[in-house]
Amino acid sequence: MEEVIRIEGGRKLNGTVRVSGAKNATVALIPAAILANGPVTIVGVPNISDVKALTTILNELNVQVIEKAEDHLIIEPRGMQNKVLDHEAVSKLRASYYFMGALLGKYKYVKIRMAGGCYLGPRPIDLHLKGFEALGATVEYNEETKNGETYGYYTIQANELVGTKIFLDIASVGATINILMAAVYAKGRTIIENAAKEPEIIDVVTLLNKMGAKIRGAGTNVITIDGVTRLNGCFHEIIPDRIEAGTFIVMAAAAAEHMVVENIIPQHLESLLSKLQEMGVDMDIEVDKVTIRGGNKLHAIDVTTNPYPGLATDLQQPLTTLLTQAEGTSSVTEKIYRARFKHCFELEKMGAKIQVNEPRAQIVGPTKLRGTHVTATDLRCGASLVIAGLIGEGITTIHEIYHIDRGYDNLDGKLEAMGAKIWREVID
Ligand code: EPU
Repeated sequence: MEEVIRIEGGRKLNGTVRVSGAKNATVALIPAAILANGPVTIVGVPNISDVKALTTILNELNVQVIEKAEDHLIIEPRGMQNKVLDHEAVSKLRASYYFMGALLGKYKYVKIRMAGGCYLGPRPIDLHLKGFEALGATVEYNEETKNGETYGYYTIQANELVGTKIFLDIASVGATINILMAAVYAKGRTIIENAAKEPEIIDVVTLLNKMGAKIRGAGTNVITIDGVTRLNGCFHEIIPDRIEAGTFIVMAAAAAEHMVVENIIPQHLESLLSKLQEMGVDMDIEVDKVTIRGGNKLHAIDVTTNPYPGLATDLQQPLTTLLTQAEGTSSVTEKIYRARFKHCFELEKMGAKIQVNEPRAQIVGPTKLRGTHVTATDLRCGASLVIAGLIGEGITTIHEIYHIDRGYDNLDGKLEAMGAKIWREVID
C-alpha cells in the first residue's frame, strides 16, 4: 500500500496562492528555541512533516510543544533534559543535526544519531564538526547496533566553549547555523568567516538576538557572536519560503493563465526572476507579490546554481521542468550538489530530452510531456514532477510523495484551489 499523487495534466492554473513560512528557516528555528530559558513562540510554521519530526525530537528531550493555531507553535524548554537523540525521527531529516550545535551550546554535551534527509549525492558535515572543535569541543563517532540495525552516533562535548575565529572552506548554510548555535553561550567572541549569507541565516540570527544573543553581520560573510550567559523566550514570525515561492512562480510560468504568488520577498528571488525574464516569462513584480501571465513563447537559457544571492540549487529542479518547454537547448550547471539530477531521469520517462553529464544537464525543448509513473527521489525532484504533471498529457502518478510532504505545505490543496486536477490515492 502506498499513497501517490495523481495529476491530470492540461488544465491552466488561475488564482492566488499564499506562500508559507520558510522550511529551511523553520527547521533551524525550532532547534534554536531550546537555547532559551523561557517559552519561544514561532508564527508562520509550515505544516510539513519535517516540523512533525522536529516536534517529536523536542518531546524526546522533554520540551513541551504547544500548537496554538495552525501555524503557531510555542516551545517551552524549561524542564528540558539532555537525552541521547536516537529516536528514528532524527534519521528522517537532515536538519536534526542542528540539535548538535544547540545542545552542545546549552549543555556542552550532545550524543546524536546520524541525520537523514534528501540524498543529493554526498553531504558531509566536516565543517560543522571542525567548527565545534575550534570552539574547544571533542568529536567522537561510533556505531551501535540496536534491534539488528547499525546506526552511527556523534558524541560532542567540551569542558567549556571558547570563542575563536572560524574560517569555513565552503560557505555552508548548515555549518554557519550550527556554529552560531554552539557559539551563543561560548566565552568571548566567535567570528565566522566565509559564512553563508542565505536569508534563512538572517532569520535564525534575528530569533537568537530577540532571545538576547549578541550577533552581528548576518547576511554578510563575516558573522560575529559575542557569547552571553542567558537567553530568554521571545516571539518570532518566520520569513516567507523563497523556495516555495520560486516553485510556484516557475509552475505559473509553465502552467498558468494568470497567477498571483503572494507573501513573498522578491529580493530573495532576484536571480530566479531575472532568469525567467530572460526566458520571456511575463511577470509583474511588486513589493510582496509576483503576478505571472502564462502563454508567452519561452526561450532556452543557461543557468548555474550558486550560494545566495545566486540561483538556489533547490530551484534548479523545478526550473529544469520549465526548460523542457523552452525553444532551444538550455544548460543547467549545478555548483552546490553535483549529483542533484535524479529528477532529469524521471522527466525523461515523461518524454523530456535531457542529457546529464554531471555537474551539467542539457535540455532540448520544447518537448511534449506525457503522464506516466514517476518517483519523487527527493523533495525538489517531487516539485519538478508536479510541474511536469500539470503540463503533461494524461495522468501522471508520483510515487514516494513523503519527500514532497517533508517540505511543501499543502501543495496539492493549493494547486487544486487554482484549478489543477490533482488528488491523492492509496494504491497497492
Ligand atoms: N558541505 C561540505 N561540508 C560540510 C557542509 C557542507 O562539504 O560540512 C558542502 C555540501 O556538500 C554542499 C555545499 O557544501 O556541496 C553546501 O552545503 P550547505 O551546508 O550549504 O547545505 P545544507 O545546509 O546541507 C541547506 C538546505 C538545502 C539547500 C542547501 C544549499 C536546509 C535544511 N537545507 O542544506 O535545502 O539545498 O542549504 O542552499 O537548510 C531543500 O530544501 O530541498 C534542501 C536540500
